[in-house]
Amino acid sequence: MSAVQELLVLPLALLALQASLCHGACVEVDSDTEAMVDKGFKLGCISCKRRGEVSATATVDWFFKASNDTDFSPLYSYEEQQAYITDSRFYGRLDWNGSKGTRDLQDGSIYILNVTFSDTGTYKCQFTRSLLYGSHVFPSNTTKIVYLNVVAQLTRGLASILSEVMMYVSIIGLQLWLVVEMIYCYRKIAAAGEEALRESAAEYLAIASESKDNCASEQVAE
Ligand SMILES: *[C@@H]1O[C@H](CO)[C@@H](O)[C@H](O)[C@H]1NC(C)=O
Ligand SMILES: *[C@@H]1O[C@H](CO)[C@@H](O)[C@H](O)[C@H]1NC(C)=O
Ligand SMILES: *[C@@H]1O[C@H](CO)[C@@H](O)[C@H](O)[C@H]1NC(C)=O
Repeated sequence: MSAVQELLVLPLALLALQASLCHGACVEVDSDTEAMVDKGFKLGCISCKRRGEVSATATVDWFFKASNDTDFSPLYSYEEQQAYITDSRFYGRLDWNGSKGTRDLQDGSIYILNVTFSDTGTYKCQFTRSLLYGSHVFPSNTTKIVYLNVVAQLTRGLASILSEVMMYVSIIGLQLWLVVEMIYCYRKIAAAGEEALRESAAEYLAIASESKDNCASEQVAE
C-alpha cells in the first residue's frame, strides 16, 4: 500500500472503530417533560442493561395517568417488534421510537403525534427484561416515570437562558482580552524598535564624532 493510500485508510478505520464503539454504548437520558400542543413529542425512556455484553430480551409497557385520573391505565405495549395501543384516547397517535430490529430493547421511547392538552399527566414506562446467562434466565424489571406538561408555547428554563448569556459574555470577554493583549504587545514591540533606533543613532553619532576627532588630530600631526 502506498503512503497516500494508508493516509486515506487510517481515518476510515478510526471512523469504523468509533461507530462500533458508539453502537454498543447505552446512555440513560431523561425524557423532556414539556410538550407543545398540536406538535409531536417524544416520550423518552431508556433502560440500559447493567451488563451490556449479556444478551437479553425485553418488552416495554407504558401506562398513563391523566391529571384528573386516580390510577394508571395501560397505554401502549411493545413486544416482539409489535406495537399495541391500549388507550382509546391515543388511537392512531402513538409511534414506536425505541430500539429497532431487536428483541433486546434498551430504548423504549414512544412518540405522540398531535399532542393535546388532555395528554398532560404522568406516564410510566416499564421494561420487563430477561437476562440470559447461558441456560439461566434472570428477570430484571425497570420502571421510569415521566411527568408531562402540555403548553401552548414552549418556555425556556432560566438555566438555559443564563447559560446562553454566559456563553456570549465569555466569548466577548475573551475577544476583548485578545485585542488588549495585541495592543499591549504592539506597543511593546514599537517601543523596543524606537529604543533600538535611538541607540543606533547615538552610536552612529558617537562613531562619527570620534572619526572627526581622529581626522582633526591627524591633520594637526601633519
Ligand atoms: C419517532 O417517531 C416519529 C413519528 O413516527 C418519527 O417522525 C421520528 O422520526 C421517530 N424518531 C426516531 C428517532 O425514531
Ligand atoms: C395531526 O394533525 C395534522 C395537521 O393538523 C393532521 O393532518 C393529521 O391528520 C393529524 N393526525 C392525527 C393522527 O390526528
Ligand atoms: C417483572 O415484571 C413482570 C411483568 O410485570 C412480572 O410478571 C414479574 O414478576 C416482574 N419480575 C420482577 C423480578 O419484578
